Amino acid sequence: MVRRLTTKTWALSALVAAGLMTSGVMASDKTEPRNEVYKDKFSNQYASWHDTAESKEVIDALEADPNLVILWAGYGFAKDYNKARGHMYAVTDLRNTLRTGAPKSAEDGPMPMACWSCKSPDVPRVIEEQGEDGYFTGKWAKGGAEIVNTIGCSDCHEKGSPKLRISRPFAERGMEALGTPFDKASRKDKQSMVCGQCHVEYYFEKTKEHKGFVKFPWDMGTTVEQMEVYYDNLEFADWTHAVSKTPMLKAQHPGYETWQLGMHGKNNVSCTDCHMPRVTSPEGRKFTDHKVGNPFDRFEETCGTCHEQSKEFMVNLDKERKAKVKQIQLKAENQLVKAHFEAGAAWEAGATEAEMKPILMDIRHAQWRWDYAIASHGVASHAPDEALRVLGTAVDKAADARVKLAQLLASKGVKQPISFPDVSTKAKAQAALGMDMKKMNADKEEFKKTVLPKWDAEAKKREATY
Ligand code: HEC
Ligand code: HEC
Ligand code: HEC
Ligand code: HEC
Repeated sequence: MVRRLTTKTWALSALVAAGLMTSGVMASDKTEPRNEVYKDKFSNQYASWHDTAESKEVIDALEADPNLVILWAGYGFAKDYNKARGHMYAVTDLRNTLRTGAPKSAEDGPMPMACWSCKSPDVPRVIEEQGEDGYFTGKWAKGGAEIVNTIGCSDCHEKGSPKLRISRPFAERGMEALGTPFDKASRKDKQSMVCGQCHVEYYFEKTKEHKGFVKFPWDMGTTVEQMEVYYDNLEFADWTHAVSKTPMLKAQHPGYETWQLGMHGKNNVSCTDCHMPRVTSPEGRKFTDHKVGNPFDRFEETCGTCHEQSKEFMVNLDKERKAKVKQIQLKAENQLVKAHFEAGAAWEAGATEAEMKPILMDIRHAQWRWDYAIASHGVASHAPDEALRVLGTAVDKAADARVKLAQLLASKGVKQPISFPDVSTKAKAQAALGMDMKKMNADKEEFKKTVLPKWDAEAKKREATY
């Protein structure tokens, strides 16, 4: 049964029921997924949007910080994780990451359809055509030939119009849960809410029929503690840690939530004020710069509109804040990596479920807090004090786990410190976990050569009928 119907599918099913139409997939009339259509009509916005392609550098986050491989052991992120880059690459990067595997057919795993949800205006299009039920059913590969246009106009705008919109019904429900439905929001709020469709914490809510509907865990609020209680009450886990067997939470990117807690969020300085400033075209026309990227690249139009300090002063201050957050981040990681291995040693020494339970709870909470702080990209710039507070509690919880582990290991006669494997590089850390990277990489190359061209050809054929 269809669980949630959009207005349009309601209308359609009414027509079908009345025998006026045959059921079947209908093209959406609310979403134009092809960004190129607006090339001439909105040339300044289009050209600046296209310039997000300039942020093309791929930075391997696991190489830069091999602790991450251990922290995510048993989960997709331990295979491959790159830092975010320009919106222009969202679909490409999702296709290329080892996390999405090398599916050969639409039914092949490992990921669910929900993984496409923050990558493309084809997502609202398919939801409008098939309902959320239709969209969320099946594996990631099912969407390969459907979700092909990268993040663009229809993610944030009504079709053919400068009017802002929330294009995803699950994001609309999330905002409503916080008390402000989009159509009641102020212009300023809307400017941040469009980003908050994707730059948020979410999880895949499993039901009998589905591997995952996207849901924002905001029913109790958006702080790290409130979301932790929400997940604990559901006994929700994204995965079980391969070494410590902890039921883990993976934070996505709670940027919208952490921005709200910072000085700018509190003063309702919107995402757009810093990442999409008003600028002047060479012909002297005012427009919104759609090159979402680093605000310091256009200091005069961003920070400079409200602050008198120099660019150099602000850049240095920002650097300093990033370094401070990084320092505590690494302390938390160091404690957590050790806690996972010590828990693994405790299991090996014959620890019982009952003995491990409180320890695993500490590890779960510590890592959730660490991840909430660092996965909300830009947090050191948006809310440095909140990042440091949350990381402080992560260090504290990890220390609680390790005190309990020391006692437990001693009671089992295990000599301490236990010997930790060498995890000083990405390759060594993956080898320590017994991951077969050679096979994964070979399968991915084959997938790129054989499956991707088919997806593109199929999409081209479909779009030719629009
Ligand atoms: C990530 C969200 C986002 C995407 C993607 C996006 N826009 Fe916008 N757009 C905005 C915001 C925010 C504004 C400013 C709204 C305001 O002033 O309140 C805006 C404003 C506009 C305006 C109004 C005039 C102006 O410059 O302020 C036009 C026209 C426009 N966008 C066209 C486009 C086109 C064409 C695309 C695709 C090539 C696109 N937008 C992609 C968020 C987006
Ligand atoms: C449809 C989902 C979606 C929307 C809407 C969206 N983003 Fe993103 N954003 C992403 C994804 C996905 C990436 C990572 C792309 C990659 O690395 O391939 C990203 C990357 C970024 C980056 C990193 C860019 C770089 O060059 O390193 C910034 C900054 C950013 N987004 C800010 C924003 C802001 C501000 C808004 C609102 C105006 C916004 N985003 C709206 C999904 C979205
Ligand atoms: C007061 C200005 C300001 C506001 C408001 C703001 N940001 Fe940022 N943001 C920054 C700065 C500065 C950086 C660091 C830029 C860098 O180092 O690339 C940043 C970084 C980011 C990044 C990480 C980019 C990367 O490649 O690591 C993302 C994503 C992001 N912001 C999204 C958002 C979203 C979404 C909002 C609103 C919910 C928002 N920002 C509000 C100033 C701001
Ligand atoms: C639309 C206006 C606006 C923009 C744009 C803006 N700010 Fe702010 N900023 C504020 C307001 C309001 C405050 C709150 C304190 C105050 O009134 O001075 C603030 C406070 C600050 C503070 C002191 C509070 C703190 O974080 O410790 C810093 C530093 C700062 N901004 C840096 C920046 C930087 C860097 C940028 C650009 C990336 C930026 N701001 C862009 C309005 C703005």
